[in-house]
Amino acid sequence: MEPLNEQLVERIDRYIEHLFTPADAALTQDLKEADAAGLPPIQVSPNQGKLLYLLVKIVGAKRILEIGTLGGYSTTWLARALAPGGILVTLEREAKHAEIARRNLERAGVGGAVDIRVGPASESLQDLIRKGAEPFDLVFLDADKVGYVEYLELSLQLSRPGTLILADNVIRNGLVLDEHPDDATDRGVRAYNQAIARHPRLESLILPIVRKRIDGMAISVIR
Ligand code: SAH
Ligand code: DHB
Ligand code: MG
Repeated sequence: MEPLNEQLVERIDRYIEHLFTPADAALTQDLKEADAAGLPPIQVSPNQGKLLYLLVKIVGAKRILEIGTLGGYSTTWLARALAPGGILVTLEREAKHAEIARRNLERAGVGGAVDIRVGPASESLQDLIRKGAEPFDLVFLDADKVGYVEYLELSLQLSRPGTLILADNVIRNGLVLDEHPDDATDRGVRAYNQAIARHPRLESLILPIVRKRIDGMAISVIR
């Protein structure tokens, strides 16, 4: 196989970013605050943020569920595209991340639409199911990859026909091509990709994403 031209991949990402994702004060500040607080820089890229934003608009989502908040960068993109009166529930295990996210979301002017729930995602999801939460229009998975298959199954119980289910980091620069990965994250992502590929209730595809490396966003719609 030809070695990946990383420089070219990065230039393509920047070219798209330059055209369609101009820098924005609130989002730039989100990243600064997250960095100052020592959060890992693992948020979606600007172009992926724009993709999330467009998908929310395309489906006219009024109820969004996000799994994995970090400093609220992807949350800001998603919340900005919400239909009027819409809400976003985002799940985060780390109280410190949730606190940074809360401040960032308030500053970006979307705090009123966002409900951050602190705790392990599987518990928060089970809680939403128990309480009979209304179905979500769009779900974005981006927490620990080992949990992806479980989050998918729980999210299906919080969805309806037509709900869009998205998952970040499903290619991992090709690490998922290994049939028997040593790494639990790679195994988790492979299991997720298999699950959405053959799930009777889903129609799916992975959209490769060029960033510094090649990653992917899984897109599924419920039949
Ligand atoms: N969506 C964010 C990035 C999320 S990074 C963005 O693009 O801006 C992944 C986040 O998931 C981290 O903040 C991590 O603390 C959280 N996380 C990891 N495991 C979790 C779990 N089991 N339950 C809830 N959150 C979890
Ligand atoms: C990493 C990137 C992510 O988008 C994520 O959700 C988790 C980890 C990473 O680069 O390590
Ligand atoms: Mg991610």
